[in-house]
Amino acid sequence: MRLERTYVMVKPDGVQRGLVSNVIARFERRGLKVVGLKMLQIPRELAQEHYGEHKGKPFFEALVGYIISSPVVAMVLEGKNAVAVARDMMGATDPQKAAPGTIRGEFGLDIGRNVVHGSDSTTSAEREINLFFGQDELVEYRMETEAWIYE
Ligand code: RTP
Ligand code: MG
Repeated sequence: MRLERTYVMVKPDGVQRGLVSNVIARFERRGLKVVGLKMLQIPRELAQEHYGEHKGKPFFEALVGYIISSPVVAMVLEGKNAVAVARDMMGATDPQKAAPGTIRGEFGLDIGRNVVHGSDSTTSAEREINLFFGQDELVEYRMETEAWIYE
C-alpha cells in the first residue's frame, strides 16, 4: 500500500534546541511511516529554490538566512492524508497562534523560529521531496503495524 507522501523538516532552531527526537516521535506515534531521513546543512541556492514562492516578500532574505544558518533534519513521511495530517500536527505558521499540543504551539514563540516545515499540498510535497532527496535515498517497506493503524 503506497499512501500519500509529505516533506517535513526540523529547522535549525529545532535541531539546536534538541527537539529532533521529540518531533520525529510525534509523527511515528501518529502512525506516519518514515521513508526518508537525513541531516544536512542546506546550501543557499537550494534554500532559495525551496522557498521560491516567497521570493520578493519582505521576510524572504531572513527566511533563507535562518534556514541555512545551521543543520536541519529532513524527512519524508508516508501515510493516509500525510500532507494535511503533518501540517495539522505542526500548527499555525505563527507559533503565537498555533494551538496547544501542536509542535509550534508547544515549542515556538516567533514566526521566524517556528521549528518545523511541512509541505502545504501534494504538489509541493512532490516538488520538495525531489529537491531534498534522490530516489535512492527513499525506501519502500511494509510496516508490521499497518494493520493496527489502518482499517
Ligand atoms: P513552512 O513553509 O516553513 O512549513 O511554513 P508555512 O507553510 O506554515 O508558512 P509559509 O507561508 O510557507 O512561510 C514559510 C516560512 O516563512 C517564515 N515566515 N515569516 N515574518 C513573516 O511574516 C513570515 N511569514 C512567513 C516562517 O518561518 C514560515 O514558516
Ligand atoms: Mg510553506
